[in-house]
Amino acid sequence: MSQLITLDEFIISKQAEHPESTGELNQIFAAIKLAAKVLNREINKAGLVDVIGSSGIENVQGEQQQKLDVFANDKVKAALMARGHVAGMASEEEDSFVAFEDPYSQSGKYVVLTDPLDGSSNIDVNVSIGTIFSVYRRKSPLNSPVVLEDFLQPGNQQVAAGYVIFGSSTMLVYTTGSGVHGFTYDPSIGVFYLSHENIRIPDQGQIYSVNEGNYLKFPQGVKRYLKYCQEIVPEENRPYTSRYIGSLVADFHRNLLKGGLYMYPSYANAPNGKLRLLYECNPLAWMAEQAGGKATDGHQRILDIEPTELHQRVPYYIGSHNMVEKVESFLQEFPGGAE
Ligand code: AHG
Ligand code: MN
Ligand code: MN
Repeated sequence: MSQLITLDEFIISKQAEHPESTGELNQIFAAIKLAAKVLNREINKAGLVDVIGSSGIENVQGEQQQKLDVFANDKVKAALMARGHVAGMASEEEDSFVAFEDPYSQSGKYVVLTDPLDGSSNIDVNVSIGTIFSVYRRKSPLNSPVVLEDFLQPGNQQVAAGYVIFGSSTMLVYTTGSGVHGFTYDPSIGVFYLSHENIRIPDQGQIYSVNEGNYLKFPQGVKRYLKYCQEIVPEENRPYTSRYIGSLVADFHRNLLKGGLYMYPSYANAPNGKLRLLYECNPLAWMAEQAGGKATDGHQRILDIEPTELHQRVPYYIGSHNMVEKVESFLQEFPGGAE
């Protein structure tokens, strides 16, 4: 790397290309960056201090909250609340949306949706986890409390989206609609440096990522597609390689850089799969598209789905353009559900 460019400098240089922008988004990034640094510090101490394990509480979706889920949610919320441009947030770990009460926040134009800690099952075992965020312009009038309608917007209305991945290094990767850019954290001086400018996902990859333990419960099209991935066809680089971490952020990040397909299909007893449209699927779908990839529910573009509830789930196929189209063609050709 010949030049050292920080996240702040990069955002300011991008803003100069859009003089109509007032810099409010920069404040939101400042909040996310701050929360990321605090989380990075705590996650790196996991095992030494009392941050791993269950909090003993269930979230509204019936999932056990881990201590770090709660910690991450609180830090993201506190960081956003302290900056006037965000009027409210919705989070996987909150029962409902949170309307910030102070007048400074209520004058804000934006709302933020977040999965504060993605990959909870990996916290205790030192495997990559992440934080996902998504920013929208509110629909309700300024200087009033935010309402549900502010959060139930289709993903094609996002103004910024991204994630922080806590892996072998910590990275912040985001889009505001002009490409996807990645920054690597130097913890010794607390700075995110531009390391991956304008990431492009290969049109065709060799990796498929799915929880294959659910195989027997998958739709027919997915079963057939998985067999296609495993066929020996050297001229098409098949069989593909199977890689599944169980942290969406980490699986997505790897596939974004290397090319690949991540799937969380519907399965018997879970017609909408597991992943949450607003906190997980929409932000990564926009990033995939901005990098030249694709994201669908098997039939429809994720970003065009009109949400009807905050914690809505949706089947998810995301990654390299040609691979998403291929699995869609299998779903069309073999339309049956799980046997
Ligand atoms: P979260 O930790 O935010 O609840 O998300 C977990 C999600 C996602 O990160 C991951 O890809 C998927 O759940 C893993 O689910 P399975 O264990 O069912 O494969
Ligand atoms: Mn998640
Ligand atoms: Mn989570």
